Amino acid sequence: MILVTGASGKTGRRVIDRLTAAGHDIRAVGRSSEPPFVWERPEIWAAVLAGARAAYVVHPELAAPGAAGVIAGFAAAAETAGVERLVLLSGRGETGAELSERALQESGVAWTVVRASWFAQNFTEGLLHPAPGGGVFALPAGDVREPVVDAEDIADVVAAALTDARHEGRLYDVTGSRLLGFAEMAVEISRAAGRPVRYAAVSPDEFRELLTPHVGPEGAEMYVQLCAEVFDGRNEKAGEGVREALGREPRDFTAFCRDAAATGAWSW
Ligand SMILES: NC(=O)c1ccc[n+]([C@@H]2O[C@H](COP(=O)([O-])OP(=O)(O)OC[C@H]3O[C@@H](n4cnc5c(N)ncnc54)[C@H](OP(=O)(O)O)[C@@H]3O)[C@@H](O)[C@H]2O)c1
Repeated sequence: MILVTGASGKTGRRVIDRLTAAGHDIRAVGRSSEPPFVWERPEIWAAVLAGARAAYVVHPELAAPGAAGVIAGFAAAAETAGVERLVLLSGRGETGAELSERALQESGVAWTVVRASWFAQNFTEGLLHPAPGGGVFALPAGDVREPVVDAEDIADVVAAALTDARHEGRLYDVTGSRLLGFAEMAVEISRAAGRPVRYAAVSPDEFRELLTPHVGPEGAEMYVQLCAEVFDGRNEKAGEGVREALGREPRDFTAFCRDAAATGAWSW
């Protein structure tokens, strides 16, 4: 049985589709599953881990203070439960995420790290899904360019890593193959959606103000810091993870936009 945490999330759902189609027995968990899985409640982890031989590890925010300690605790609980393989979803260029990667690598369980760039699905399933009629998304990212990745590619890499020992001990830098500025992404989305979508390059202070009503002052500060880190130019380089893990090219952002528009993601 393969355990999938973050089962309702952008990558978890897609990983489940792939594992189920391939005939694997899965346990899909989150805060409202039965049994439930809650990162803040280590006392209930054993019930979820029992009987799993591999697990997909999705923490909602590895940039949060203490996340690496939580990942270390989870890896230890997994080892105790007899889990043989852990696959961690990580974030590219994030100091907090690197601490969590290290916690996993130092555990006694075979590991794979899937270190991903900015998800294309942030525009269709995340906070940046433009509000109806709004058509504006704001980020403190200036004109930095990002090798935006399709969560379908992440799910392909994760599903392979969960089921094939050849991926053990590998850290995959999973990105798209093209560097795009957020204004360029907005142009591509506009073209596919047939409606204007605009990128607003806001300051960190403006971003904090925008986020606070949604995630509170501490959450807003965490995301401001995270953006300052990952949008400082350090990630302006495409990674080789999709090619290394799957032997094929990553899916392109233009194809993502075309498919998202066709399935009504931007039909506000
Ligand atoms: N989005 C990106 O561009 C991006 C890029 C690189 C790395 N990452 C990393 O990917 C991870 C997930 O981000 P995402 O954007 O994919 O998020 P997401 O789609 O919102 O998925 C998060 C999942 O975590 C579950 N969850 C939330 N709080 C939880 C809790 N306290 N205990 C247990 N489960 C909880 C949610 O399910 P329930 O609500 O059902 O519990 C959900 O399935 C983060 O570590 C992030 O740093 C994201």
